Amino acid sequence: GAAVEVDISAVKPGEKLTVEWRGKPVWIVRRTPEQLEALKKNEAQLADPASARTAYPTPEYAKNPARSIKPEYLVVVGICSHLGCSPSDKFQAGAQPSLPDDWTGGFLCPCHGSTFDLAGRVFKNKPAPDNLEVPPHMYLSDTKLLIG
Ligand code: FES
Repeated sequence: GAAVEVDISAVKPGEKLTVEWRGKPVWIVRRTPEQLEALKKNEAQLADPASARTAYPTPEYAKNPARSIKPEYLVVVGICSHLGCSPSDKFQAGAQPSLPDDWTGGFLCPCHGSTFDLAGRVFKNKPAPDNLEVPPHMYLSDTKLLIG
């Protein structure tokens, strides 16, 4: 499929931009320093914190705790690895009664309750078997991203 060029200059810290690539939603989330810091608190509760599983292989350049080339920007396919629903943003604590009190932000799949952190890493003991997919991508400049 064709690669998609995305201008990310208007995405503010804490915001998400959705673009379409190969008929799938791709999310670009600009994480705040607080949100990046909070990723560390999740590690013990994650099924695959180092992205070592292979159902959705993480590109080498995103095999880090933030799962990204630039820590500030998360780029993931917004489709649950369970049965393909699209998870909702739950960036705030208390965003949903079913989320834990110490929720540090991420995504909740409405279909069967899988939760993902703000690096798209799935929490343990959830129906989703894997982290959200990181699509192949690269930066053409500070504000231009190429997906695919
Ligand atoms: Fe997301 Fe089942 S499709 S939890």
